[in-house]
Amino acid sequence: MSGTPGLFISFEGIDGSGKSTQVGLLEDRLRAQGQSCLRTREPGGSLGAEEIRRLLVEGTPDRWSAETEILLFTAARRDHLETLIEPALAAGQTVITDRFADSTRVYQGATRGDLRGTVDQLHTLMIKREPDLTIIIDIDPNVALTRGLARGSGEDRFEDFGLSFQEKLRAGFLALAEAEPRCHVINGAQTPDEIAKDVWALISPRL
Ligand code: ADP
Ligand code: TYD
Repeated sequence: MSGTPGLFISFEGIDGSGKSTQVGLLEDRLRAQGQSCLRTREPGGSLGAEEIRRLLVEGTPDRWSAETEILLFTAARRDHLETLIEPALAAGQTVITDRFADSTRVYQGATRGDLRGTVDQLHTLMIKREPDLTIIIDIDPNVALTRGLARGSGEDRFEDFGLSFQEKLRAGFLALAEAEPRCHVINGAQTPDEIAKDVWALISPRL
């Protein structure tokens, strides 16, 4: 067990923006340097949270109200944090997560009515922790939607909300970045290697 807590990094952005690709590239780079790291994702990551994930990402767009979604995402996050993220950070591992609480702030907080206050209250009550560093991959929703739907993963419930929903999400993430110094925006229209270079320039000084 290391005495120093690990660095907690989140990747955020609209569906199909290239987060998972960058999380994978960063994990490879850290491991190549002999760094101990944990790669994870939300919704999911831990056993219990992966069960909740299935309820959230499959089915029709109107399956849950925005309020019910906030509760389910927060329940999944609490399990993820307790059972996976906090123990890894305490052991000195770098934790890289594909989405965290900023996704709830943007997806549930600002896109279907103004529920940001509810999201913030639940976060304060149940989650508390923020990442040390958040990377927002910014991309035109037209490009991202084509990439995302092309995957055909059966987990397209949020993509199925449509293009104007994705445009609201993009604006929501950019507004969040303006307000939060821990958030850094990277241009997602570049090649994967170019994006990875920008990511590394932000992360390497903090390791
Ligand atoms: P997300 O995790 O944000 O949904 P992914 O990393 O899964 O995004 O990428 C969505 C799709 O776009 C995948 O098919 C992936 O291979 C492709 N992709 C990822 N990054 C890029 C990029 N920089 N340029 C072109 N295609 C990309
Ligand atoms: P994810 O698997 O990251 O989707 P993608 O690879 O398409 O970006 O996340 C599944 C969906 O869940 C995604 O559309 C975003 C949504 N989501 C929320 O609405 N709120 C949240 O708090 C989180 C973590 C995800």
